[in-house]
Amino acid sequence: MQLKGLVTSVLLASVVSARKDDNSTGTSIKSQCKSVAKMQNLVELAANQTKLDSKTDGNTTLEDEIKSKAAEATTQLSTLTSNTTLMDQCAVIQAHADSVESCSDMQKLEKQIATASNDTKLQDKFEGNTTEIDAFQAKTAEWQSKLAALQGNSSLTTFCAAQQSVDDCKSMSQLQKVVDMAGNDTALQAKFDGNATKIDKFKTKAAEAQTKLDALMGNSTLMDTCSSLSQAETDGTAKDTSDDSSGTSSAAARLEMVRQVVGAGLVVFLGGIFML
Ligand SMILES: *[C@@H]1O[C@H](CO)[C@@H](O)[C@H](O)[C@H]1NC(C)=O
Ligand SMILES: *[C@@H]1O[C@H](CO)[C@@H](O)[C@H](O)[C@H]1NC(C)=O
Ligand SMILES: *[C@@H]1O[C@H](CO)[C@@H](O)[C@H](O)[C@H]1NC(C)=O
Ligand SMILES: *[C@@H]1O[C@H](CO)[C@@H](O)[C@H](O)[C@H]1NC(C)=O
Ligand SMILES: *[C@@H]1O[C@H](CO)[C@@H](O)[C@H](O)[C@H]1NC(C)=O
Ligand SMILES: *[C@@H]1O[C@H](CO)[C@@H](O)[C@H](O)[C@H]1NC(C)=O
Ligand SMILES: *[C@@H]1O[C@H](CO)[C@@H](O)[C@H](O)[C@H]1NC(C)=O
Ligand SMILES: *[C@@H]1O[C@H](CO)[C@@H](O)[C@H](O)[C@H]1NC(C)=O
Ligand SMILES: *[C@@H]1O[C@H](CO)[C@@H](O)[C@H](O)[C@H]1NC(C)=O
Ligand SMILES: *[C@@H]1O[C@H](CO)[C@@H](O)[C@H](O)[C@H]1NC(C)=O
Repeated sequence: MQLKGLVTSVLLASVVSARKDDNSTGTSIKSQCKSVAKMQNLVELAANQTKLDSKTDGNTTLEDEIKSKAAEATTQLSTLTSNTTLMDQCAVIQAHADSVESCSDMQKLEKQIATASNDTKLQDKFEGNTTEIDAFQAKTAEWQSKLAALQGNSSLTTFCAAQQSVDDCKSMSQLQKVVDMAGNDTALQAKFDGNATKIDKFKTKAAEAQTKLDALMGNSTLMDTCSSLSQAETDGTAKDTSDDSSGTSSAAARLEMVRQVVGAGLVVFLGGIFML
């Protein structure tokens, strides 16, 4: 499978969603998407008397206020939603956010399930309170079925794996920086004002970083991914590889996204690892 294209598309989607807000007027794409969602909720609420009654405890003054606010929002909402470029971008941002959330849900569920079957962890977490331990363990089956449902979605698991790889590539470059610093006396002296205690402490930390780095670098699959990710951005092929997964955005938009990735300095980060 084209891991390169996949990882690149994950990265691009995250860049779209993390795009720097041109916050001068609150018109960044992200903030526009947010206000669309807010207005949609408001309009939906105003149109649903049951929901309205329950939210306002039947206060008709408040209900009228909500209805009039919703009526005001309708015009702006239809202007924004009629902009298909914007709506496409909102969909990308939303889908990315949903997927990231699902990945973290999976991790959380895996952790809870592991805890539920590990007596050491249970004792530790609940300080030996058997009532709380029993209540926690009683939820295991529910967690397992939720986890199975998420794991059954192969697009999601593929996304999470790619996301994890991108994160790992980034953390490798951070670890490498720490290791480099620890081996540079000039830099150490400057950073810690020549305090030997602090320098030793940092070196201990750097040794841990080195161990982590070695473990990550020992994974050739991951190294290949980081390498192609770095390469894709360096030679501009990221633009092409994202083609297969996102048919919606225009070539110009994709190019712009790549430029933003490059601008974020990730190429420099990742490139640095492989030059060492
Ligand atoms: C944009 O946001 C930054 C940080 O949130 C803030 O410091 C700055 O004043 C904002 N600029 C404008 C023009 O609102
Ligand atoms: C109105 O809101 C209620 C309660 O929140 C919900 O159950 C119902 O499906 C909604 N009705 C419509 C037409 O959306
Ligand atoms: C109804 O809502 C209005 C507006 O928020 C508030 O001023 C008023 O006190 C509320 N009435 C009751 C009976 O809670
Ligand atoms: C539609 O939204 C895009 C992205 O936010 C924006 O660049 C463009 O100017 C908008 N088009 C119109 C007609 O408002
Ligand atoms: C599977 O996950 C993808 C990515 O998060 C999501 O877009 C899709 O809706 C999910 N499919 C199902 C059936 O839940
Ligand atoms: C249980 O948890 C402890 C503490 O986190 C860990 O050291 C141990 O390896 C775990 N046991 C099993 C069987 O996973
Ligand atoms: C255990 O936890 C339960 C529920 O939080 C609490 O009511 C009970 O007092 C705790 N028992 C002990 C021995 O701390
Ligand atoms: C060590 O750090 C100093 C100051 O940060 C830097 O100028 C120098 O190039 C570094 N040396 C090496 C070998 O990386
Ligand atoms: C060096 O740093 C340590 C730990 O932060 C501090 O306790 C100590 O006073 C420092 N020594 C000097 C000479 O500044
Ligand atoms: C190596 O990395 C790949 C891709 O990031 C990952 O799927 C795999 O689980 C890793 N293998 C080990 C042994 O950690």
